[in-house]
Amino acid sequence: MKIKSAEFVVSNSDVTKCPKDMLPEYAFIGRSNVGKSSLINMLTSRKSLAKTSGRPGKTQLINHFIINKEWYLVDLPGYGYARVSKSTKKVFQKFITKYFEQREQLICAFVLVDIRHKPQPIDLEFMQYLGERGIPFCIIFTKADKLKPNAIDNHVDDYRHIMLETWEEMPKHFITSSSKSIGKEEVLEFIDELNSG
Ligand code: GTP
Ligand code: MG
Repeated sequence: MKIKSAEFVVSNSDVTKCPKDMLPEYAFIGRSNVGKSSLINMLTSRKSLAKTSGRPGKTQLINHFIINKEWYLVDLPGYGYARVSKSTKKVFQKFITKYFEQREQLICAFVLVDIRHKPQPIDLEFMQYLGERGIPFCIIFTKADKLKPNAIDNHVDDYRHIMLETWEEMPKHFITSSSKSIGKEEVLEFIDELNSG
């Protein structure tokens, strides 16, 4: 799919204030610093459409970006970031939860996990939460540039092994690197199929 235009639309912490049109949308969620905002920039080939930072906790709001004037990419705050205060964390969790519970336009959530790490309970629990609510999701492994190909395979196998303990099959997944632009076409093609399906 060709990205002809990618524009920031709105940021907010209140899901009822998100765009009201019924254009399809795709949300990026995962632990702080996993690379959600970077992935949005990589997919759209825009260097700083979404704000990124080496320090976790950069994205603090629900950010809508409209692509080709036809669909939205949504950048969300990370979960599981210990350095924001407990009360801030609760507010985050609340509006993230509300987003997933109320956003009818959401076609698919992309749950990002760092390819270098063993499966983490918080990510597995979040996928469980999505599954229980019938929200379709895929896994996006990020930062693939940090591992050699055979290590990537091993880490994906570890994930598959754990997922198959609770899921009938390994969810659809993508191997990506925002710094090396790996996985871009695969993710965009997948979105394109969902948009036209
Ligand atoms: P929060 O908004 O804080 O939740 O973080 P985020 O998930 O949006 O992460 P962000 O895109 O801001 O990236 C976090 C850090 O990881 C930055 O220093 C990025 O440069 C780095 N990063 C993101 N993607 C990649 C990647 O594919 N490869 C490498 N090597 N670094 C990456
Ligand atoms: Mg971010």
